[in-house]
Amino acid sequence: MQLIEQVVELSAALQVERAAGRRVGLVPTMGALHAGHQSLIERAASECDLVAVTVFVNPLQFDEIGDLAAYPRTLAADVAMADAAGASVVFAPPVAEMYPGHPAPPATTVHVAGLTDRLEGSSRPGHFDGVATVVTKLLAMAGPCRAYFGEKDFQQLGVVRQLVRDLCLPVEVVGCATVREPDGLALSSRNSRLSPDERRAATVLHRALQAGAASVDAGERRAGQVRAAMASELGREPLVTVDYAEVVDPRSLEPVDEIVGEVRLLLAAAVGPVRLIDNLAAVRPAAGDVPAGRADDDTVADAERIGV
Ligand code: PAF
Repeated sequence: MQLIEQVVELSAALQVERAAGRRVGLVPTMGALHAGHQSLIERAASECDLVAVTVFVNPLQFDEIGDLAAYPRTLAADVAMADAAGASVVFAPPVAEMYPGHPAPPATTVHVAGLTDRLEGSSRPGHFDGVATVVTKLLAMAGPCRAYFGEKDFQQLGVVRQLVRDLCLPVEVVGCATVREPDGLALSSRNSRLSPDERRAATVLHRALQAGAASVDAGERRAGQVRAAMASELGREPLVTVDYAEVVDPRSLEPVDEIVGEVRLLLAAAVGPVRLIDNLAAVRPAAGDVPAGRADDDTVADAERIGV
């Protein structure tokens, strides 16, 4: 396991690997690694010849200085976990190595229009420009065949896919399923900042997503009803302040009114002082597949219209 801090050293080390015909997998992280990151690294190790994990708390993607300061930093433990999960390189650069003029903003940044207008993009101005910029730089430095990102940050995954497509970057973006605690809470480096009461309250996010998905599964076609089901579940928990509870198209991330086929349910909420996000896929069954007694009136009307 090599711990590298300099960009030139990382690029040179991975260039040697590529020249020898070895496939490089990249797992970009901000450290405070947990079992979710571990699953990304293990997947990368199973699909590539060599895995590089980046550990960099990217100041460009924080819209609040307090959030940046409070972000957990655990490099020694991160290196040990990356090593155990099958990584060969950990790249942990100082800020000046990534952004030489810091704190002055870099002259060149990457902006992905459209997808970043909503949800996290409107709640955290500038966040996705920071993510898109650092991910583009990390891909340029490492030159991986594949890069691995968790679906927990579903909008981020869409933004990364879009920038890779638009900039013709020669890398395959691999989205990996969210890893959850036994009680449903999605793993996040931010969970370590929850008090015991907040940690208990945070499980409502997954319950709300499940409530939304259950209503879609039962044939609900009105996205407003699904949003209401999620909001009602979240409303039971006084420690939680909802930012958004949305039903969106899984590709464009545009909010939908009428649910046809697959949608993505996305939530953001503050649990005490900690902002958490989570999401879940939901698929409305075709009208003929809605179980008897579970279809809403519109679904029944639909079914009648198409003669089933
Ligand atoms: O998901 C994260 O941890 C970060 O947003 C990423 C992709 C490493 C960019 O800083």
